[in-house]
Amino acid sequence: MNGLGNVFNLLAYAAAAVFILGFLYKVIVYFKTPSPLNIPTTPGPKTSGGVVMRLIPEILFFRSLLKGGAAEKILWFGGWVFHVCFLLIVLRHLRYFTYPVPGFVMSFQQIGIWAGLIFPLALLILIVRRFTNDRLATISLFADYFVLLLIIGIGLTGILLKYFMRTSLVEVKAFILGLVTFSPAPMPDSTMFTIHFLLVLVLLVYFPFSKLMHAWGVLVAPTRAQADNPREVRHMTPWA
Ligand code: HEM
Repeated sequence: MNGLGNVFNLLAYAAAAVFILGFLYKVIVYFKTPSPLNIPTTPGPKTSGGVVMRLIPEILFFRSLLKGGAAEKILWFGGWVFHVCFLLIVLRHLRYFTYPVPGFVMSFQQIGIWAGLIFPLALLILIVRRFTNDRLATISLFADYFVLLLIIGIGLTGILLKYFMRTSLVEVKAFILGLVTFSPAPMPDSTMFTIHFLLVLVLLVYFPFSKLMHAWGVLVAPTRAQADNPREVRHMTPWA
């Protein structure tokens, strides 16, 4: 394998390691962070089972966003469509990571293509929303735009790769399976694929250190993940 192929393999392993270790590190930090007060949004469930039932529609439908005003409804629409598309795209992409390709991955191929086309439009809604709402524009940071542009970049390079600058999917599959099975194969000879792939690595490295960690945070945020039981249970901080 040529030297450049090796570099891409090493970069991929480094990015995967940063993602996994960074994610685990953040999960530990979240667990260790004291939450001394019982602050669920009331009225809320009184039991852990109830908390789980409360979280399910939150995760599947972003339920609390739907309760907001017009601005939140736009956020809900763009955000929900974006997340669903992302999931479908990832399911479609599993064909590069598996051999033989499982039946359920095959069944997501066609809908995954549609999701790929809708994906940048949903992200466009999210970015235009930040530009056009004065209050939001004021509190938006570079990081807020960066992550949207990064993900739009991944989506658009994917579409270019599929429709305009095609590459050998056999080579792509050999490369990715090589990574997965720790028997590195050469990087496909395609500039667009290289860009698509490198942007994904940037996303992996950036993820644990950014607001994208809300993916885990939604499960442990005290306002939703605590039981609303201050009348039934005496809450004592460990240092009280
Ligand atoms: C290591 C990870 C990835 C690899 C190897 C990869 C590879 C590819 C390849 C080879 C194509 C062209 C498909 C074709 O010609 O039929 C493509 C398309 C695409 N990719 Fe990726 N990709 C990766 C990650 C991602 C991620 C994380 C996203 C989402 C943010 C994404 C979004 C897209 C989109 C929207 C398309 C166009 C529609 C489609 O063919 O599915 N890719 N990708």
